[in-house]
Amino acid sequence: MTAVAVIQARLSSTRLPGKVLLPLKGRPVLDWVATAAGAIPGIDKVVVATSTAADDDAIAAWAETFGIACHRGPLDDVLARFALAAAAENADIVMRLTADCPLLDPQVCGEVLALLKRSGGAYASNASPPSWPDGLDCEVFTRAALDAAAAEATRPSDREHVTVFIRDRRHRFPQASLVCPLPGLHGERWTLDEDADLRFLAAVAEQVPSRPSYLEVLAVLDAAPELRALNARILRNEGFAKSRRQEPSPPWNGSATSAALLERAEKVIPLASQTFSKSRIQYPADSPMFLTHGQGGRVWDVDGNCYVDMVCGLLPVVLGYQDPEVDAAIRAQLNNGISFSLATTLETELAERLVDLIPCAEMVRFGKNGTDATSAAIRLARAFTGRDRIGVCGYHGWQDWYIGSTSRHKGVPAAVQELTHPFAYNNLDSARQLFHDHPGEIAALIMEPMNATDPAPGYLAELKDMAHANGALLVFDEVITGFRYALGGAQSMFGVTPDLASFGKSMGNGMPISAVLGRADIMHEMENVFISGTFGGEALSLAASIATIDKMKREPVIERLWQTGTLLATEVARLAAGHGLSQVFSLLGRAPWMILAVQDHPTARKEAIKTLFAREMLRAGVLFLASHNVCYAHDAEDIGRVLAAWDIALAKVAEELATGRLEQRLPCPAVMPVFKVR
Ligand SMILES: Cc1ncc(COP(=O)(O)O)c(C=O)c1O
Repeated sequence: MTAVAVIQARLSSTRLPGKVLLPLKGRPVLDWVATAAGAIPGIDKVVVATSTAADDDAIAAWAETFGIACHRGPLDDVLARFALAAAAENADIVMRLTADCPLLDPQVCGEVLALLKRSGGAYASNASPPSWPDGLDCEVFTRAALDAAAAEATRPSDREHVTVFIRDRRHRFPQASLVCPLPGLHGERWTLDEDADLRFLAAVAEQVPSRPSYLEVLAVLDAAPELRALNARILRNEGFAKSRRQEPSPPWNGSATSAALLERAEKVIPLASQTFSKSRIQYPADSPMFLTHGQGGRVWDVDGNCYVDMVCGLLPVVLGYQDPEVDAAIRAQLNNGISFSLATTLETELAERLVDLIPCAEMVRFGKNGTDATSAAIRLARAFTGRDRIGVCGYHGWQDWYIGSTSRHKGVPAAVQELTHPFAYNNLDSARQLFHDHPGEIAALIMEPMNATDPAPGYLAELKDMAHANGALLVFDEVITGFRYALGGAQSMFGVTPDLASFGKSMGNGMPISAVLGRADIMHEMENVFISGTFGGEALSLAASIATIDKMKREPVIERLWQTGTLLATEVARLAAGHGLSQVFSLLGRAPWMILAVQDHPTARKEAIKTLFAREMLRAGVLFLASHNVCYAHDAEDIGRVLAAWDIALAKVAEELATGRLEQRLPCPAVMPVFKVR
């Protein structure tokens, strides 16, 4: 088994021309990389792969001086270059290194190689999910996988970025990841793309040995943290994002397997789904309906298509699929048990964290779905005030007390429906009218503190005063905003503390857990009110939630959600304007959860436009429902794919609108909303 490390290098970088031969402490960057590569355990030979362009003669000359083999191939088709180098070297295993990572750690690369061999798979890396500093990236793959990719990949970005074709086909090329044992390092940027990086690397190079380990680099940075500020704001993997956005639609395997499974599932499961929003009635016909797995910010369907997931499980997946720390916490708890006959200390540990972070939380109880938490809050409010009526604003779950107020109220007794009264957001008069119409009867106002629209200045505080003046409680439904807008939820962001609140979704990164929390005097009512379930103390979800929240406290998770969402919003607005569709498409809400608003066009209803749009997004490799639900794992590559898909989908919508017959030409029935409350 011959294992060959191939360092890809070229001089024609657009952002920093000639970067790989620039000196760092007197040695060219390439020299640093090749020296590190030469010390990787298990690697038999190190070679350079550069282009045949005249510019790159300097790289060939450097290789000769340094004494390593240099293979030359096409400039942009780097995949072909790798295949060529691997064939020339008779490699069985290829390690891909890039010439712009002078702080490469040989031991880490050696571990990736060992992981590939141990796993028996086709590909291993330390890059996905991103847990190591950017600049330690190492990918290892079998020659067979490389040759298959080189023979089959057709997209320019697949060819330029070498391993995308392999990474996108996990079914075919089994993959393994090496996760960094130290948490919180993936925000570090040790790679060379811009001037700012060069200043950073030059400063670090002065203080480390000629072939540093990542721990030695970290020690330097921890002693001089100001160095990190030199290049902190550059987006990871921007190069890929750029090239993806410039190219045509990806091949899509279709949804034949999904369709067959749908037929089978519908025989035994109504709508073949547990959730309206995950069912066929919310997606265009021919959409993928079944997923097999997710990793980071992506999911794979049963037909083998890979999507950047902008749904994220309807928002619980806040860190990303298979988050290493959360999964490790679940596995560790699994070794101790799942559901117990008495309480565990995990309940107290999690409750203490929530009390610590969330302004209104003095006491906490757990549930599974968000609906458990909102329903518990309503029963508590009714018990505490001795009143029956409630005001609702937004979406609050599937139980009778709420869903009776929507157009999907079939099955809810009229007597229950009569007790629930919707009030309008940002409209104090609407709530005032409620109190006026039902004096002394309203137990609580429950509301999403924000969804599509910002609260008007003073609105939330005045609503709270109004509720209290009328003897009612204010409940914030933070099932979405909690652990997404801020660690303390929307209430900490807007500075208004409700009496009770419900949390769910993001608090467990996909595990089923929710919480009702609030004032101790109200929460104590639970000693008499019956709120009691078999699974409230289920331990895997509690362990997952503790790990999720601890990671959010340790790492800039919330900050990243805001950054990613803001970037998407800005770029989407630019794309919509570019396609002349600013009047039709807009994104509402705040960056961590941006809701798509589509307006009617003179020649087509918004539902038809949205259906065509969603269909095109899917075909372009983005799973999209009605909002951008970003997660911490969405990286620049994912965002590049999402924006490329937007570009393609908007172009198609513009083209169809121009015919004046978008609706008639729509290849499937328009998707209609389940109901409208936001
Ligand atoms: C604001 C809000 N409240 C409550 C719920 C109900 O949560 P679940 O579906 O987990 O019961 C949801 C679900 O989407 C929600 O968005």
